[in-house]
Amino acid sequence: MVTNDSTMDVEHFNRWSRTYDDSWIQRYAVRVHTEMLDVVTNEIATPNTVLDIGCGTGRLLCKAHTLYPSAQLFGIDPAEGMVELARGQVPTATIYLGAAESLPLADSSVDVVLSSISFHHWNDQLAAFREISRVLRSGGCFCLADISIPVWLAKFARHIKIKSPAATGQFFDEAGLQVKVQHRTFTRFIWLTLGVKGSRGI
Ligand SMILES: C[S@@+](CC[C@H](N)C(=O)[O-])C[C@H]1O[C@@H](n2cnc3c(N)ncnc32)[C@H](O)[C@@H]1O
Repeated sequence: MVTNDSTMDVEHFNRWSRTYDDSWIQRYAVRVHTEMLDVVTNEIATPNTVLDIGCGTGRLLCKAHTLYPSAQLFGIDPAEGMVELARGQVPTATIYLGAAESLPLADSSVDVVLSSISFHHWNDQLAAFREISRVLRSGGCFCLADISIPVWLAKFARHIKIKSPAATGQFFDEAGLQVKVQHRTFTRFIWLTLGVKGSRGI
């Protein structure tokens, strides 16, 4: 069987899915999710549609449901184990098995796109950004939180797709999303960036 980084990632997350919610990563994820939703709510107080890319077990969508009870929620993740758990955790959401690079949603149909600690796993990051811009309505926003480590250190990491905040900002620009917020989260290794789709789009 031919494997590449993405296949190995998906297998890894399938295996991890059963224990993911009790694992070390929650120490970071829970607080990062809260920070993301605070920043988003500042931009759009009551979104009608929210999409979480790389939604994992659905914890961020769960919080989004509490905060925006009438919003239509969507999630997408390529790991079947994650998708199954997310469907159980947020039954009102529509959870797709799929990847950021090909979103099964109509053009200009989403108010808020979220993605937490997933971006460095995306195989074609620019294609994914273009997809995000396509599904966002004008004035909609994308809030991305992801690991950021110094470039020299990233070279030694298994995932060389970890980007600096500046490089991440360039993806937003190229996709026609104007960066309005970019800062470290409570942990210096995870940065948050929020961009808004202007009328220009891509
Ligand atoms: C570290 S987990 C983060 C899960 C969740 N967002 C959280 O904050 O806990 C990374 C997730 O990204 C997903 N992922 C990997 N490649 C992806 C891709 N190309 N598109 C979307 N999600 C992807 C994995 O399956 C996994 O569920």
